Amino acid sequence: MSQENKVENGIGQKALTNKTALVTGGSRGIGRAIAERLAQDGALVAITYNSGKNAAEEVIAGIEKAGGKAFALHADLVDANAIPAFFEKLDSEFIARTGSNTLNILVNNAGNAGWGSLTDATPEGWDTMFAVHARAPFFVVQSAQSRLSDGGCIINTSSGLATRPQSSVPIYSAAKAAVNTLTHALAIEFGARKITVNAIAPGWTRTDMNAAVRENSDIVKAIETDTALGRFGETEDIAAVVGFLASDQGGWITGQVIEASGGYRL
Ligand SMILES: NC(=O)c1ccc[n+]([C@@H]2O[C@H](COP(=O)([O-])OP(=O)(O)OC[C@H]3O[C@@H](n4cnc5c(N)ncnc54)[C@H](OP(=O)(O)O)[C@@H]3O)[C@@H](O)[C@H]2O)c1
Repeated sequence: MSQENKVENGIGQKALTNKTALVTGGSRGIGRAIAERLAQDGALVAITYNSGKNAAEEVIAGIEKAGGKAFALHADLVDANAIPAFFEKLDSEFIARTGSNTLNILVNNAGNAGWGSLTDATPEGWDTMFAVHARAPFFVVQSAQSRLSDGGCIINTSSGLATRPQSSVPIYSAAKAAVNTLTHALAIEFGARKITVNAIAPGWTRTDMNAAVRENSDIVKAIETDTALGRFGETEDIAAVVGFLASDQGGWITGQVIEASGGYRL
């Protein structure tokens, strides 16, 4: 059978062919790798960016060059009141490309850096941290729910720090713990529609978020020593788990927080 006929008959079809995905914060880091992975697996991928328009355009160009389909939209997720209007724009983009505003895969990934400790934290810093990491995913899901297909999936981005908090990042750790709890609650909420809701909890992963940490070779060595698999994580390590959760093979997993850290501090 020719390759074309195989694809027509669904044999050898990519895992996410005819699926649509939204990846928040897809302009850099882990979100970029997730967007690339989902597109490589056949999905039409919408990414959001906040300050990185050029970076987002580069991501889209790279995906298209590799034969995938993607587009980028602006969203500042500090402002939860702007999320419904964002989804109206997303509707138009999906309808123009597929004839429908159906969303199959939602990845809440966007995250702002900010390492406020007890001494230097401010109420404003607390609010921004919680707004992006915990409040935005909740209200993104609220707007997404009428667009999400039955049998679809939601993947939130947590962190190993949600369950093993560090005193240097108490607010970030608490915001990620909130993500874990929301994931659990939303999995119950969406179960009747066969929509899975999980969180991925990366360990140390090489992105801009920890560029300053990686400048200190002693800290990097300590992290690698504390990691069972003996190296810093790469964004593709995280994207691979998301690709699995978004595929049919991940369909029996819901309400879980899956740590992908190479075995950090086991
Ligand atoms: N890297 C790690 O070691 C690690 C470990 C555990 C968990 N995580 C989590 O993984 C996720 C991605 O992190 P990363 O390391 O890939 O970070 P990153 O490289 O700094 O990228 C952050 C992304 O989030 C977007 N973003 C930031 N603030 C935003 C806002 N106010 N509104 C909308 N988008 C915003 C950025 O968009 P622009 O650049 O366009 O502004 C960018 O696309 C985060 O939730 C993070 O907490 C990371």
